[in-house]
Amino acid sequence: MKYQPPNTTTDAGSPLPSDELSLTAGPAGPVLLQDVYLNEKLAHFVRERVPDRVYHVKGGGAFGYFEVTADVSPWTKAAFLNKVGKRTPLIVRFSAVAAEEGYPDTDRDVRGFAIKFYTEEGNYDIVGNNTPVFFIRDPMKFPDFIHSQERLPDSGLRSNNMQWDFWTLSPESAHQVTILMSDRGTPRTWRHMDGFASSTYLWENAGGEKFWVKYHFKTEQGISNFTDAESRAMRAQDLDYHRRDLFEAITRGEYPAWRLDMQIMPFEEAADYRFNPFDITKVWPHRDYPMIPIGRMVLDRNPANFFAEITQVGFEVANFVPGIGPSPDRMVLGRLHAYGDSSRYRTGTNYNQLPVNRPINEVHSYNKDGPMCYRHNDGQPVYAPNSYGGPRADPERYHDLTWPVEAGEIMRTAYVKHREDDDFVQPGMLYRQVMTPTDRDHLVENVVWHLSQGVERFIQERAVKEYWNKVDGELGMRIAQGLGLASPVR
Ligand code: HEM
Repeated sequence: MKYQPPNTTTDAGSPLPSDELSLTAGPAGPVLLQDVYLNEKLAHFVRERVPDRVYHVKGGGAFGYFEVTADVSPWTKAAFLNKVGKRTPLIVRFSAVAAEEGYPDTDRDVRGFAIKFYTEEGNYDIVGNNTPVFFIRDPMKFPDFIHSQERLPDSGLRSNNMQWDFWTLSPESAHQVTILMSDRGTPRTWRHMDGFASSTYLWENAGGEKFWVKYHFKTEQGISNFTDAESRAMRAQDLDYHRRDLFEAITRGEYPAWRLDMQIMPFEEAADYRFNPFDITKVWPHRDYPMIPIGRMVLDRNPANFFAEITQVGFEVANFVPGIGPSPDRMVLGRLHAYGDSSRYRTGTNYNQLPVNRPINEVHSYNKDGPMCYRHNDGQPVYAPNSYGGPRADPERYHDLTWPVEAGEIMRTAYVKHREDDDFVQPGMLYRQVMTPTDRDHLVENVVWHLSQGVERFIQERAVKEYWNKVDGELGMRIAQGLGLASPVR
C-alpha cells in the first residue's frame, strides 16, 4: 500500500490545510493575523535556540554502553561496577574548548570528553578532556583562562597574543600547553584520542576503605593525530570533520571503543606522595601507580535528534553515585556547582526531566514545579519531614564521601607543595623521555608558528626565557632560534 503521511498539525494537534501558503485577504492582499499556524510557526522559530554552553560549544556525541571487565569490589562499591560483564548505558559528548558552533573541528585545541552513565543508582558523570592535565589548578583563574582563549573585546577576533600572555604568566599551564602544542593538540578524529577525567576522585569500597583514583579511557582505534599542516588543510576542506567522522563511523557499524584503565592510590599515600596528587596540572607517573584495566566503553548509536540529545544534554561533575565522590582537587570542588547552574540557565530548571538527562531509576526528590515541569510523584507530600509516607533519606545506608581536614584559619593560599612539585618538571620529562624525535620537532614547529601569529615581541621573549627554557634548555634554544630571538640565558 502507498505510504500515506500524517496530516500536519499545530503543536496543539489541530490538523492544518497548508504547509506552504500563508492566509491572505485575496490572492494579492495582506497576510492576516488570524493565520494561527503562521503565528505559531514564526513564534516557535524565534525561540528555536537555547543559550550555548559558555565554552565547549561545538561538539558531537553518541550513545553506547560501558562493560565491566574486572572485579573492582576491592576499591569501590559503585553498583554499576559491581559485576564482571555488567553493562550500563551511557552517552558521550566530545567537543572543542574554544570553538563556537560553526568553527572548524580540526583547529588546535583541547577536546572535551564527557560521559554520562545511566546507572541503577542515578546518573554518574565524568566531565573530562583528551588530556590528563589542565592549564590551571585554582578555579578562581578559570573565567580569566577561558576569556584569554576566546575573542578580543574590540575586534571580536581570536588572539594568540592573549593566549600566550595568560599562559606565560601562569607557569602551572606549561604541562598542558606542551601537550596542546604537540600533535596531540590536533587529534585526527574523536575516535582516535584517549579520554581522561584529569582530576583525582575518591572511591570507597563496601568495607569503608577509601582510594584516590584517576580515570584513563584508552582508545582501541589507536592514537592518531594530524600534523599542524594537515589540520589546517582539513579546516579548509570540512568544517565539521570530527562530527561527521563519528556519525558516519557509527552509521557504518564501526563502533569506536575505549578501554578504561584506573590508577588507584591508597588513601593514606596521598599525604606523602612526591607530587601533590590533587594538583590537576600533574600526572601520577605510571611506575608509581600502574594502570589497572577495569572496563570497556563502546559507542554504537547515533543521536536521533541532535538538538534534543546533544545540545540539551547536561553533564555535571556533581553527579556521583554511592562509592564515588570528589577529592580535595580544587578544580573538582570549584566545578561542583557550575555545571547544574549552566544547565538551569541554558535548558531550564527541570533539565533533568528531559529524556537525555533523566536517570533510569526512579527520582524521589522534594524539588517541585518550575518551568516545563513534567515529573510529578502523585500523592507524595511536598515537604520533609512529613507524616504521610514521603521518601526518607537513610543515613544507615548512605553517607557523603569525605576526608579529614586540618582545622585552621580560613585563608586564600596556594596549593600545598609536595617535595617534587615544580611546574616545569613533568613537561620536561614529557619532552625528554616520552616524545619521539619527530614529536619534538613538531612541537618546536608548532610553538614557533603559533607564537609567530600576532604575538608581541616581549611576550615571545617571556615565552622563551620564562617558559620553554624552563621546560627544557634545548627546547628553549630551538624555539628562540625559530623566532629569531637571542638564545635564552639559563
Ligand atoms: C573551575 C573550573 C571549571 C568551571 C567553572 C567549568 C565550568 C563549565 C561549564 C559552566 C560548562 C558548560 C556546561 C553546560 O552548559 O552543560 C563546562 C563544560 C565543560 N567542561 Fe568545564 N569547567 C571547569 C573546568 C573544567 C576542567 C578542568 C575540565 C576537564 C578536565 C572541563 C571539561 C569540560 C567539558 C568536557 C565540558 C563540555 C561538556 C559537554 O560536552 O556538555 N572543565 N564547564
